[in-house]
Amino acid sequence: MALRNETIEEIRKRADIVSLISSYIPVTKKGRNYFCVCPFHSDTNPSMSISQEKQIYKCFSCGAGGNVFTFVQEYEKVSFIESVKIVANFVGIDISSEIEDTEKKISSGEKRLFELINEANEFYKYNLETEEGLKGKEYLEKRELDEVTRNKFQIGFSLNDGTKTIQYLMKKGFSIDEIISSGIALETNGKLTDRFKGRLIFPLANLDGKVVGFSGRKIDNADIAKYVNSPETNIFIKGNCLYNYYIAKQEAKKLGYIYIVEGFMDVIALSKIGINNVVAIMGTSFTENQIKAIKRLNVKVIMALDNDDAGQDATFKIINELEKQHISISVVTKDKNGKDLDELLKIGKDKVISYLNNQLSPFDFKISYQFSKINTENYEEKKEFVKRIAGYYMTSNSDDLDKDYYISKLVSLTGFSYNAIKSLLGDKKEEKKVFKRTNPLIVKKPDRYEWAEKNILSQMLYDTKAIRYYIDNLNFLYNDKYRIIAKYVINYYYDNNRISENDLLSRIDDPVLRSIVTDLIYENDLQKSFDVQYFDVIRLEKPLSSEIGRLQTQIEITDNEDEKLRLFNLKMEKLNELQKLKDKFLKGGN
Ligand code: CTP
Ligand code: MN
Repeated sequence: MALRNETIEEIRKRADIVSLISSYIPVTKKGRNYFCVCPFHSDTNPSMSISQEKQIYKCFSCGAGGNVFTFVQEYEKVSFIESVKIVANFVGIDISSEIEDTEKKISSGEKRLFELINEANEFYKYNLETEEGLKGKEYLEKRELDEVTRNKFQIGFSLNDGTKTIQYLMKKGFSIDEIISSGIALETNGKLTDRFKGRLIFPLANLDGKVVGFSGRKIDNADIAKYVNSPETNIFIKGNCLYNYYIAKQEAKKLGYIYIVEGFMDVIALSKIGINNVVAIMGTSFTENQIKAIKRLNVKVIMALDNDDAGQDATFKIINELEKQHISISVVTKDKNGKDLDELLKIGKDKVISYLNNQLSPFDFKISYQFSKINTENYEEKKEFVKRIAGYYMTSNSDDLDKDYYISKLVSLTGFSYNAIKSLLGDKKEEKKVFKRTNPLIVKKPDRYEWAEKNILSQMLYDTKAIRYYIDNLNFLYNDKYRIIAKYVINYYYDNNRISENDLLSRIDDPVLRSIVTDLIYENDLQKSFDVQYFDVIRLEKPLSSEIGRLQTQIEITDNEDEKLRLFNLKMEKLNELQKLKDKFLKGGN
């Protein structure tokens, strides 16, 4: 982060959330609180509440919540640091000098690397214009990449004599160590050469648009790797880059969607027909940071990877990841000819456009994808498929229409009858209900434990004693989301040696997690200072209650009467113990 935490906190404290939100949308006062129409989902009712006292906002309809910075981030669709700048400006705090200072601090080593890469980039581009670069130019012409495209993507050429690049960089004042650490040089037999020699050069930029590395494509049919890429360096971190991100970002925000393709040749091909909201993952892996970068844009993602198995497998994986982040997606359908985008373009612009416009919902893609993975001639496999898919998609979230659609889809894929599939799913649901009824402990108890965990988290948001106690004695919560939030709290505490519930909000990117924290801050009847009883409920009661649940299941499945009796007695013992604990801790709790 480029700014000091104290500065960020100072800005937040000076900015009143009601004034800030009022500067964007109309806000009305009702009682102690302020209300507005939530700008984060389509609504006409004032379902967003703003608490001046707690300096947070919260939508009761869509769950959006946070502080001044997250509001600006989501409203203006900007990064966290941008939002800090905007809010600083709003309250009249000048942070430009501090930003400059930190920029100066970027280790001078990294600065040298950036400079070196830049020089190399200029050299490569120049080479293309020389006689030796003619071969590269011919290749570009063959691939129909004209001068405009060449300039736009800063395409260059590395000379066949790989020592030339090294000599050039040394002449520019860079040391051998620096040239090696830039990833350009390869050492063979004690001599340095350019690892990209004889290749066409495609500069690779980081998310800020600065060139940090290169990819070199072979220009003939030689039996060598098609592409050679820079190794990771201090400034080139592969998982943090997405080809063309910096350019695509502007366009995507304007249009509201972005294409993800597999190779940079596809990006370049689309740019030739004026489509610039395109990034390439450069292969088939997709990292957490790349997801974050996409998520920050707050736009719809259109997946258009290659049509081969690798591309489709990657699409499946990536959309699962994107869905976890609540990013809306569609998937360009499989093209029958199995052609790349740039090959398709050779047939015609219309072909590409109609190809891109033929999109599936993620559900339709996934179901066809999974169906394509089974042997459709095999009855057992088909039946398994229906069961698996149905179990997966028929979640409680789906309404009757969704379910009808899923079933119809399965009917058309498998040829099983609508009623057969429907009754299969119906039975499944029954099973679950029966299980619940025979296990009253498991159904009823979680309320108490969920409530205790909520109170533990709430304490941790305000009281470092609770954080310390959590670290030393519990360090675990059963609720997955609460457990992650507890991690955020601990990290904040370690970084700052104190806790601020509101500043913690700025750190949580995931809207669902942030919504939970906002709720915790909003609710008045949760414990907000350290109380060990809540911890004891989770630490001592909860394991006992789980054990009782397990015993109950064992009792139900045991045929041996003696064993049944033994288990039953054991269960009664444990129940007694549990009751004693419950009498001891938090008697008022549900
Ligand atoms: N790639 C790589 N090394 C390889 C092959 C591919 O790093 N040996 C990466 C490149 O970043 C490439 C992407 O994977 O852009 C997609 O590969 P592919 O589809 O084979 O490349 P194209 O973009 O189609 O390139 P071309 O049209 O020149 O064959
Ligand atoms: Mn290609």
